[in-house]
Amino acid sequence: MTKKLVIAIDGPAASGKSTLAQALADDLDYLYFDTGVLYRAVTYAALEGGVDTRDGQAVTQLAEEAVIDVEPTDGGNGTDFRVLLNGKDITGSLRTPEVDAHVSVVAAYRGVRQALNEQQRRIGMRGGVVMVGRDIGTVVLPEADLKIFLDASVEERARRRFEELRDQGSQISLEAIAESIQQRDKIDAERDIAPLKPANDSRLIESDGLDIDGVLAEAKALVAKKLQDA
Ligand code: DC
Repeated sequence: MTKKLVIAIDGPAASGKSTLAQALADDLDYLYFDTGVLYRAVTYAALEGGVDTRDGQAVTQLAEEAVIDVEPTDGGNGTDFRVLLNGKDITGSLRTPEVDAHVSVVAAYRGVRQALNEQQRRIGMRGGVVMVGRDIGTVVLPEADLKIFLDASVEERARRRFEELRDQGSQISLEAIAESIQQRDKIDAERDIAPLKPANDSRLIESDGLDIDGVLAEAKALVAKKLQDA
């Protein structure tokens, strides 16, 4: 039987991690898991339960007690998943403006990160998973079979996000997007807990000048090599 790998994909904001991970998971018939949803699920639980997200202790307790799980959706392409909070499907409630407004505060608490790391490891160690985040290869799954750090210049990332948002009818300027990306890069890379950085043994994919097919081809070559060596 072919070994089912644990694949970690990290990288800065808007580097195309989710798009790559979904395509790769689809290709391999693995579970695609975007770890940002865990931080979003705790944020949702706090908002639902009337817990002030500025109360680090209360939010940490919530994160410790919550049972968050992901399940592949039936009849999909095998790469979509639903998120369960204490058995309840909350997938549709994770990307609301309210959750967006509070999630970065929640994601900065050490206790929350510790609790969620356990959840992520439980899911990741099953194998056959492509896990996306900012600290997967460095902190969450340092023993992952393959670690990819997906990077691109700020200009390239801003241009892609600009086109995506423009297609959705947004009027935001390219300059404003570039500035916001730079700001997020700085916060992610300079934070004390689990800062964004490539793991020592990660494979860098620079996606400037590559479309999704080009990035996917590079990632698939890395996977094929790993499976050959396994
Ligand atoms: O990728 P996203 O927008 O869904 O992430 C939501 C929040 O969680 C964002 O504040 C970054 C944070 N996050 C993190 O700190 N570590 C991860 N592994 C994934 C997300």
